[in-house]
Amino acid sequence: MTSAMTPAIGTVHLLPQTKQLRALHTVIRDRNVGREDFVASSGRIIRQLIEAGLDLLPFDSCEVLTPVGRTYHGLRQTPGICGVSVARAGESMESELRAILPGVRIGKILIQRDKVTKLPHLYYSALPADIDQRHVLLLDPMLATGGTALAALDVLLDRGVEEDNIVFINLLSAPEGIDAVRARHPNLRIVTSAIEERLNENAYMVPGIGDFGDRYFGTDIVR
Ligand code: URA
Repeated sequence: MTSAMTPAIGTVHLLPQTKQLRALHTVIRDRNVGREDFVASSGRIIRQLIEAGLDLLPFDSCEVLTPVGRTYHGLRQTPGICGVSVARAGESMESELRAILPGVRIGKILIQRDKVTKLPHLYYSALPADIDQRHVLLLDPMLATGGTALAALDVLLDRGVEEDNIVFINLLSAPEGIDAVRARHPNLRIVTSAIEERLNENAYMVPGIGDFGDRYFGTDIVR
């Protein structure tokens, strides 16, 4: 995956809408699909998203000798990347990031909406001590209203992470959420696999996939 293959609309990088990607979306959007298929297909999409996100981060030039004695002028990803997942749904993205970068450091942020004030409240964060020196892949599969994303971004910026060093990775995004994030962070890079039509009255995306966390972790209601 190269950035040339991932068209950018402003700072939003939408994965190429290949037939394979649409087939994976067809699985996860099907209300009747079983959890194993849901987890496997969303994992394959998340892998593509993370590869596209890594492509936006720096690389160093390097050379290697091929088995036939020629020099290959290649690239190596610049070290110093970490992931930060927004619990709970973002935890689904950790295993895919680890499969690509086995020793990667992964921080965690837990934000929930306060029942009274309706405002996002930070309950917990654990981040690498030197996160202000790192490039950060912020992992949250759903960008709906943008409230949680903005609160998570505040946590990273308060810890000294440069906005230019953050790439926000999400699987589905709503135009409302993209607009909310862009209004506060016009230069923030977002990588997504689909931009939905809109939010419904319950702040779910349509056509959407329902509650990602419940479907991925199996905490949805059994009917
Ligand atoms: N969170 C979800 O899991 N799904 C949505 O559609 C919106 C937020």
